[in-house]
Formats: sequence, C-alpha cells, structure tokens
Amino acid sequence: MKTTWIKWSASAVTGLMVAGCASYPDQATTRQMAEKMVFEAFDASLAHMKRLEQDRSQQICSKIGDAKLSREEAAEVVKLARASIQYPASGQLTGDWKAGDRLAHDGSGDRIRSGKTEANKQNGALCQNCHALAPGEINVGNVGPPLTGYGKQRGNSEAIVKYTYEKIYNAWAYFPCSNMPRLGATRHLTPEQVTHMVAYLLDPQSPINK
Ligand code: HEC
Repeated sequence: MKTTWIKWSASAVTGLMVAGCASYPDQATTRQMAEKMVFEAFDASLAHMKRLEQDRSQQICSKIGDAKLSREEAAEVVKLARASIQYPASGQLTGDWKAGDRLAHDGSGDRIRSGKTEANKQNGALCQNCHALAPGEINVGNVGPPLTGYGKQRGNSEAIVKYTYEKIYNAWAYFPCSNMPRLGATRHLTPEQVTHMVAYLLDPQSPINK
C-alpha cells in the first residue's frame, strides 16, 4: 500500500514538472515577474527604490539565463561607459594613496540598514571585498583579480594612470558587463575619491606595492 502511494506521488511530481516546463514563461515575462517581486520586497516610499530602475547598460547586462551578449550590445555598453566618465576639476588623476588605502578597506555608505539608506559623509570603496590588496592581507575577496603589486608591475606612465582611473570610474568601459561595480558612474565614489584609489594602486610607497 505504502509503496503504491510513493509510486503515485512520484509520478504526480514528474507530471507536474513536465507541465511546469511546458508552460515556462518567456524572458520578458520572467523579467517582469522578477522585477515585481524585488520591487514589492521594499518599502516603496524610500529613496533607495531608485536603485531598482535599471539603466540601459544594466538592462543589456541583465540577460536571463545563458543568453549571450551580442557584439553590438557589448559595443553599446562600452560606448555608454566611456561617455559616463567624468574627470576631477583639477585634471589631476592621482590623489593621496593613504586616503585610497583607507577607502579600499571601508565598506560604509549606500547600504540599506533597517529599511533606510545609510547616510554617510563619504562612501567607502571596499575593493577588499573582491580583490587581494597588500601582500599578507588575508581578509580579502577573490571575485576580481589580485591587485597586489599592481603599480610595481605596470609602472605609472600617463597611459596606465588614465586606464586605472577610467577602470575604477566605470569598469565596463574596458570589460562590458563585468562583475566590477561602476563605482564612479553610479556616484558611489566621487572623481576625487577615484584619484585616491589610483594613487593607492600606483604609488611605490603604497602598501600594495611593497
Ligand atoms: C564586487 C566586486 C568588485 C569590487 C568591489 C571591486 N572590483 Fe575591481 N574588479 C572586479 C572584477 C570581477 C574584475 C575583473 C573584470 C573587469 O576587469 O572588469 C575587476 C578588475 C579590476 C581592475 C583591472 C585589473 C587589471 O588587471 O587591469 C582594477 C584596476 C580594479 N578592479 C580595481 C578595483 C578597485 C581599486 C576597487 C575599489 C575601489 C575595486 N576594483 C572594487 C571586481 C570588483
């Protein structure tokens, strides 16, 4: 009796799975459903709701499943990223490595706590979450490549300074849809803060190059 019941429920589950697969919603519907679900999870009156509106690049990069990025889409993301880059008023792309060192390890700002967006005088950069930094630091992430010895390996030519600034400001200018956040373009970091990050990566005195 018991075995029969198990057999019955097993075939019912299989039947449901097959029915489920047959009626799988298309990509546009799946996206709408997912966005609605996320939207409803937050208090709609709060300022951070703006973050749920995807800009054009984020829409291109948020394809569902394994859908490939086309050559044209990748080119559009790069073009938008390049257009987003702003430089500091001083024109000086290298700032203070000590300030950069602090920011690289600081995760404050822009977080949602108890339903409110954290208000901070300045946001941290938290490169530490994704990158290995100074030699011997163990509390680091590996989502991105190690940045240990970055300046020692590349020098600090004008081209490297410019690349490093632009890469941190909007990583998608060089690698469309990568997992590196668009730190300057989303206004998480100011152009001045990005110059501190450049100094932190390139200055021979910075712990990252020791
Ligand atoms: C959420 C994870 C994440 C955070 C936070 C992050 N990065 Fe990245 N970073 C990546 C990934 C992934 C890559 C590789 C893909 C790419 O190049 O965009 C990368 C690539 C880079 C590169 C290019 C490396 C090369 O070999 O040219 C630099 C430079 C860099 N990150 C610097 C930083 C700095 C500085 C910070 C902090 C201000 C930072 N990243 C924060 C994920 C992250």
